Amino acid sequence: MTEKILIREFIKDKKVGAAFSTSKHVIKKMLGNIDFDKANLLVEYGPGNGVITTHLLERMHENAVLFVFETNELFIKELLNIKDERLVIVNADAEYARTILKNRYKINKVDYVISTIPFTFFDRMKRKRVIAKTYNLLNENGKFITYQYTWLIYQLIKQKFHQTRVIAAILNIPPAIIFTGIK
Ligand SMILES: C[S@@+](CC[C@H](N)C(=O)[O-])C[C@H]1O[C@@H](n2cnc3c(N)ncnc32)[C@H](O)[C@@H]1O
Repeated sequence: MTEKILIREFIKDKKVGAAFSTSKHVIKKMLGNIDFDKANLLVEYGPGNGVITTHLLERMHENAVLFVFETNELFIKELLNIKDERLVIVNADAEYARTILKNRYKINKVDYVISTIPFTFFDRMKRKRVIAKTYNLLNENGKFITYQYTWLIYQLIKQKFHQTRVIAAILNIPPAIIFTGIK
């Protein structure tokens, strides 16, 4: 997947939320929150072109499974080019991840949720619902990891999760803030 497709989809589909892929600098800091030896079930919201997905797969152990939830059908086609048995691609809104995992895959809890969906583009109620449902999907001590360019969702994460970590990725342009909610 090239950046060109991402830019084109950004113009066409308002849910895409960003014209450029997450930088390596931000990915490194986000993934620094994951204990890959202990991560058995991982979920990614909004994999897009798979830039974080491929990094996750590289570091996941051989029995771990990664479920990705993506709404854009062109990105789904791109993701299908990633040949890895540990990857399960779901064309659905991240808001329904918990229900789909439960009903379709008989999975009640996961260890990590990594998200790059554009919370700033959602209304407040949807932001709240996604964060509450994510909390319910996680195991005890499970982590919700996301990054944003604003503090908009900080309070929501802080109110819901037992512990919240904030890391600034100042070398990113624009500077990004990585939020980790720990259940
Ligand atoms: C900012 S892009 C991030 C793409 C890629 N993960 C990255 O880090 O560069 C956001 C992605 O989230 C997807 N998306 C937006 N809303 C979504 C939702 N409610 N559920 C699942 N995917 C969503 C978009 O289609 C897009 O692929």
